Amino acid sequence: MKIKEIERLYQDSLAGQYDLNEAAGIFSLVLESISGWSLNQINIHIMQEASAVQYDSLLAALSELKTGKPVQHVVHTAWFYGKQFEVTADVLIPRPETEELVEWILQSLNPDADVLDIGTGSGCIAITIKSKRADVKVRAMDVSEGALVIAKKNAALHHTEIEFLQEDVLNYSTEQKFDIIVSNPPYITQREKEEMHDHVLLHEPHLALFVTDENPLIFYKAIADLAMNVLKPDGYLFFEINEYLGKEMIAMLKGLNFTDILLKKDMQGKDRMIRCKKGA
Ligand SMILES: C[S@@+](CC[C@H](N)C(=O)[O-])C[C@H]1O[C@@H](n2cnc3c(N)ncnc32)[C@H](O)[C@@H]1O
Repeated sequence: MKIKEIERLYQDSLAGQYDLNEAAGIFSLVLESISGWSLNQINIHIMQEASAVQYDSLLAALSELKTGKPVQHVVHTAWFYGKQFEVTADVLIPRPETEELVEWILQSLNPDADVLDIGTGSGCIAITIKSKRADVKVRAMDVSEGALVIAKKNAALHHTEIEFLQEDVLNYSTEQKFDIIVSNPPYITQREKEEMHDHVLLHEPHLALFVTDENPLIFYKAIADLAMNVLKPDGYLFFEINEYLGKEMIAMLKGLNFTDILLKKDMQGKDRMIRCKKGA
């Protein structure tokens, strides 16, 4: 069978889950991981006959995808800010909107800054910052032992030195001071859970995703309280946020006397990130 024909098979078989372009993108990711080809090389080889190994591997991956498994779990990697990260069921698959948050942080980093990433998951935020800015000192925390195993592997993969801590941020204090604190904590309410796709609900860690309807800002409030104590004067706190809770977030941060509060939309036009400052 030609490679192009297997791509069509992906599009037909996954039609109930993904549109044609998404299915073609998924096919490319699987073929890339099987063959080691770049996207350009895939285009060059697309009209060739698939080798027996390629055919078997592509069809095995298709069977997994048909069960609703995210492609990142089928190929065990996800792209983030131009780098590949290992992902397992213990970590959130890094999202494109988080790349936008990292971009914003990189623009705000002073030389030799001390950075703390809370709820590091795959380590994508901490590792990207450190790999772009070797001068900064990065600490990364997560309550999940499984997530930290993967984050440490990713840090080694990208030759970045990061101090990892297993801590519950709801019960955390430290004497250390930071120039930047960043967090993309769990923020999806139970109400929103009902509208979520099975490929997220069944395959991504609920510990990374959900909060209660009654207390949706639980992590943000705990982290903002911590930040008030451990940010250096003029230090910044960055959050990725629930698109529906921008106003509540601003009110909460104002109430704690943070200044220069800036709410930013992501590329899809959704309120997605906040930066604020601890006054001098
Ligand atoms: C939305 S995920 C973000 C992962 C990663 N930073 C990213 O942006 O892709 C939230 C992370 O917070 C961690 N987490 C959940 N509860 C926590 C707690 N009480 N203390 C510290 N981390 C926690 C989860 O294990 C998960 O890795």
